[in-house]
Amino acid sequence: MKQPLILADNTTVLAGISVQHENTQLGRLGLARDTTPVQLDPSRTGDDASRLEDGLHRLVVGQDESIRQIVSVYQTYLAGMNAPGRPIGSFLFLGPSGTGKTRVIEAMAETLLHDSSAVVKIDCAEFQHSHEIAKLLGSPPGYLGHRETHAALSQEALDEHQTEETPISLVLFDEIEKGSDALWNLLLGILDKGVLTLGDNRKVDFSQCLIFMTSNLGAAEMEALTSPGVGFAASAGSTDTKALRECIQRVGTQAARKRFSPEFINRIDRTVVFHTLGAPELRRVLDLELSRVQRLVLSGTPFLFELTDAARDLVLEKGTDQKYGARHLKRSIDRLLVQPMANLVASRQIRSGDRIDVGRSDDGLKFQRIDEGLSPHQIHRAAGILFPMDEPLLDDYRPSGSSLEKEQSAQESLPR
Ligand SMILES: Nc1ncnc2c1ncn2[C@@H]1O[C@H](COP(=O)(O)OP(=O)(O)OP(=O)(O)O)[C@@H](O)[C@H]1O
Ligand SMILES: [Mg+2]
Repeated sequence: MKQPLILADNTTVLAGISVQHENTQLGRLGLARDTTPVQLDPSRTGDDASRLEDGLHRLVVGQDESIRQIVSVYQTYLAGMNAPGRPIGSFLFLGPSGTGKTRVIEAMAETLLHDSSAVVKIDCAEFQHSHEIAKLLGSPPGYLGHRETHAALSQEALDEHQTEETPISLVLFDEIEKGSDALWNLLLGILDKGVLTLGDNRKVDFSQCLIFMTSNLGAAEMEALTSPGVGFAASAGSTDTKALRECIQRVGTQAARKRFSPEFINRIDRTVVFHTLGAPELRRVLDLELSRVQRLVLSGTPFLFELTDAARDLVLEKGTDQKYGARHLKRSIDRLLVQPMANLVASRQIRSGDRIDVGRSDDGLKFQRIDEGLSPHQIHRAAGILFPMDEPLLDDYRPSGSSLEKEQSAQESLPR
């Protein structure tokens, strides 16, 4: 007797156009029944993966390919179809400085674990010599100082940021090319078996981890390809973006192959090249960064600031540098906007409840109070309209020792 086999969900109409059972193995065994075939769409993602995708697109400008790759690996994990006994996924991020390689990992932590710093970060430049590996593994028992050395890659360190709803850890090996052979061998074991043995023989399980490695390998060659008037841009015409992207991807992959052993490269699931940010992308990064500065201001002396178009153009002009990408833009924001505003707050020229118009002067920004005495509620409401305030506050703009810091406790009393 033919056994029924559910081929799709319950909405499927039973008995209809017949499938060519003689072409399927179950059909030949007499185990398939006639139902209407339903075309399925593998490009659709589930709700959880879509939430991650939206979060990454909100916080990271451009770099769609890297986001696509991360979401696809996460989706495979959610479906329970990632390889057992190995990390959930491993990525090598290549590309020039300030293009978002580290930011995309922070954004993932922010979206999945609600904390952008919920990443176990290993700075590989600190492990240029083989003996320094002890800092990652801890010393074997009996060695001098054994009790004082805590393994940076312990199970506790991995589990620390996991949440009940997202029991995964993000591990970042930054500037991987600067590490020693010993570090790469250690990584090889993690990528292959998902297990690491510490100095005291305890095992660390990496099967709930996403491993990221970042590197600037090949970045100079990539930049040469995209510089106007030279390299690919000159020979093929800058309109041919797809070919240019493929060429950049090839350059990056080749640089990595030159540096790392084939065993190492072959164990990495996805190699993704990050692309230099163009003018429109930097403009969007500026919006994100201004929103962050405004959030920071709200947590100290709450006031509002708004940049005119000319002021924004100046910050972008001064903050555009191909070599350092958005890193240079952040420096420009810090120098032109954050430091002067911190001075104005410290000297009480800006006070709680002020509204400040930021315009362009000759080669800097000028600040003008255009309203005062706004209530915290009004300020928060207006700031919410000016900037979408749905990301946590990051610390990188906090000028140390300023009054912005001292007034932080005021935050609690403010209406949300
Ligand atoms: N694509 C991007 N989208 C949004 N912000 C970005 C992007 N790229 C860079 N930034 C901003 O610039 C800062 C520096 O970028 P990030 O740390 O990601 O650079 P990186 O590519 O890791 O460079 P490096 O190779 O120098 O480490 C980030 O903290 C972020 O604020
Ligand atoms: Mg980085």
